[in-house]
Amino acid sequence: MKRPRPVVALYPGSFDPITHGHEDLARRALTVADRLIVAVAHTSTHDKKGLFDIDERIRLIEDVFADEDRIEVKSFEGLLVDFARAQKAPLVVRGLRAVSDFEYELQMAQMNQELWPEIETIFLVPDVRYSFLSASLVRQVAQLGGDVSSFVSGPVLKGLKRKLRKR
Ligand code: PNS
Repeated sequence: MKRPRPVVALYPGSFDPITHGHEDLARRALTVADRLIVAVAHTSTHDKKGLFDIDERIRLIEDVFADEDRIEVKSFEGLLVDFARAQKAPLVVRGLRAVSDFEYELQMAQMNQELWPEIETIFLVPDVRYSFLSASLVRQVAQLGGDVSSFVSGPVLKGLKRKLRKR
C-alpha cells in the first residue's frame, strides 16, 4: 500500500567514522521510511575526542551511500529536537546493539520527548555480526595499528589510513 506522504526519518549520531553497523542500520531504516537523513551531530551527549572533523565525516558517509539516493547527509548544531523540527522529520531512528545501550537510548528518547512531544524515536537492531562494533573501538584499533577492514567500508578505510599517516 502506498503511504499518503513520504516518511522521512532522521538517523542522528556522531559517525566518527561511519561503520558497517551504522550502514546496516541506515539501510534497515529505509524499510520503514521512504527517505533517511543521516544527521551528523556537532555535539554528542557522550564526551568523546573526535578523529574526523564534521565535514570529513559527512563526506565519508556520502561516499559510503553513493549508491543510495534515498539517503541524504546533513550536520546539525545544537539540539536534535530543533533540527528535527526544522527538517519536518519527527521520526528518529537509533540502533540498539545490546541491553547495555538501552538505558542511555531510553534516557535520550525521553528527554527529546519532553523537549518536543511530537518527536518519536524508533529503535532498530543491527545484524548480530555488528553487535560488538562501535566507532570508538574502530578509532582505537586503527590508531593502534590494528586491521579494521572488516568493520568499515573502503572509503572509510582509506580515510583512516590518510588521517593516521598524517599524525
Ligand atoms: O553516536 P552518538 O554519539 O551516540 O549520538 C548521540 C547523539 C548525537 C544522537 C546525541 O548526543 C544528540 O542528539 N546530540 C545533539 C544534542 C542534543 O540534542 N542533546 C540532548 C539529547 S537528549
